[in-house]
Amino acid sequence: MKRLYTPFKVNKLELKNRVIMSPMSIGHTVDGFIMDDVVEFYKRRAQGGVGLIIFANMQWDKLRYNPNHGAMLTDEKYIPSLKKLTDAIHEGGSKVFAQLMHRGRCANRASIQGEQAVAPSPIPGRFTHFEMPKELTVEEIKEFVDWQAEAAVIAKKAGFDGIEIETNSGYLYGQFFSPLTNHRTDEYGGSLENRCRFMVETLEGMRAAVGPDYPISLRVSGSDFMDGGCNGDDIAEICELLDKTGYVDGFSITAGWHESAVPLITMEVPHGAWAYLGRQIKARVKAPVAQGMRMNIEKAEELVDRGDFDAIVMGRPFLADPDVVNKAEAGKASTIRPCVGCNAKCLDMAMASKPIGCIGNYECNREEELEDENGLMPTEKKSEHPEKILVIGAGPSGMEFARVAALRGHKVTIWEKRNRTIGLSLYAATPPRRYDIRYFGQWLERTCRELGVEIILNKEATAEDIIAASKDYDRVVLACGSKASIPPIPRDPSVPIVHAWDVSAL
Ligand SMILES: Cc1cc2nc3c(=O)[nH]c(=O)nc-3n(C[C@H](O)[C@H](O)[C@H](O)COP(=O)(O)O)c2cc1C
Ligand code: SF4
Repeated sequence: MKRLYTPFKVNKLELKNRVIMSPMSIGHTVDGFIMDDVVEFYKRRAQGGVGLIIFANMQWDKLRYNPNHGAMLTDEKYIPSLKKLTDAIHEGGSKVFAQLMHRGRCANRASIQGEQAVAPSPIPGRFTHFEMPKELTVEEIKEFVDWQAEAAVIAKKAGFDGIEIETNSGYLYGQFFSPLTNHRTDEYGGSLENRCRFMVETLEGMRAAVGPDYPISLRVSGSDFMDGGCNGDDIAEICELLDKTGYVDGFSITAGWHESAVPLITMEVPHGAWAYLGRQIKARVKAPVAQGMRMNIEKAEELVDRGDFDAIVMGRPFLADPDVVNKAEAGKASTIRPCVGCNAKCLDMAMASKPIGCIGNYECNREEELEDENGLMPTEKKSEHPEKILVIGAGPSGMEFARVAALRGHKVTIWEKRNRTIGLSLYAATPPRRYDIRYFGQWLERTCRELGVEIILNKEATAEDIIAASKDYDRVVLACGSKASIPPIPRDPSVPIVHAWDVSAL
């Protein structure tokens, strides 16, 4: 068995394997209470075999919060709604940590009910279009330490198995670590030790509140990728200092700040690209280290097998396919629906405070809406009236239709006029660093063929052909003729514009 699928301990908590689902804020809370659709989303992910889920973006600041975009840990009244979530995840077979998050200067006023953001120093950033944050006073820092200890106790009572403190992405603690954003001259600024003081005090306060056996982990950007900020060596030193406190039970490593100019998680970043940052940290700490960001399961298996890391953290792959772990562990990795790193329906939506999903997985984040009374999704139920269906076009939409219809027991044939599948998406996948887009179409074709869909290439459908064929089929579905969307880029109208397919032989 691959080491990735072997048990693993964080403090005294045993996880059934070494795959962790990274925190992904899917929004939906009302007045700080999580809704049933959130519970169903997470239950489905737990059922897919992942060892630990990090539940994202839990708010503990009693003054600066958004009650409709993130669960709250500021009061015990939230416990019953949170307990529904933790119970569902436990029933699904996973453990769950609460991610305590504070965005510091990355919160704009509109997102925290008109309050001014706070930060180590009054230095504005690109992320909020340079809204000026207020410098935290020492009294406020002490108050933050207390609020987080209280939040951790609430999380523990609500059934969370541990805590992850978010220091990554350039949020509050990262702002304290970094000399770029921390210009304080008191005991919380200056030397590296001083810049870590708030974090150390938080760990001390939290440990005293939750006891010695309750897991506390830190999510850390392995390098800020910000001019004048912390580089990989600085962060490794910070992790070593925090590890020596003895309060940290694990480190989860990411890369960069939201504000950094380096591409971090888009498809041009190779899988496992940020592992070099995690290795630097692993070499300096005793606590287990989990590496995340831009990882597929094959790379995860390789890195853990080789002993580079104790565990792997993956996010968007679980949006594309909740069964990543179960499928890979059963030796069926080729059946995993791939995440292509486009961000179009997940991160971009989260940033715009809209419901998230996945371009490849219609069911993602619609579990509650689509499930029947027995908990079955439409794709898990056979039709009572199986039909013979002809689909015109083997692009992504034709193949997705065919896949779902075949899963539901219909007999499907596709006619495709080209000598290949995946339609116009091939052009989208052709420019440099856009290759991953192909993976989705390739998966669709593979899956259709496995489900017995007949794909006939070089078969152009004329109106006469369709009329003639309609006697052999119960239904004909037209899934061809998608149109290019032309971005509104200002241009000289006298300059001719051509499409990729006008100049390509593909
Ligand atoms: C929709 C969405 C929401 C996210 N929310 C959070 C968050 O609240 N906290 C956090 O630390 N990271 C958050 N992330 C970042 C992910 O945890 C992860 O680092 C990122 O998706 C890259 O990893 P991946 O390539 O495995 O998806 C979010 C990502 C997505 C796609
Ligand atoms: S929308 Fe794109 S990046 Fe997000 S999970 Fe789906 S395939 Fe991955």
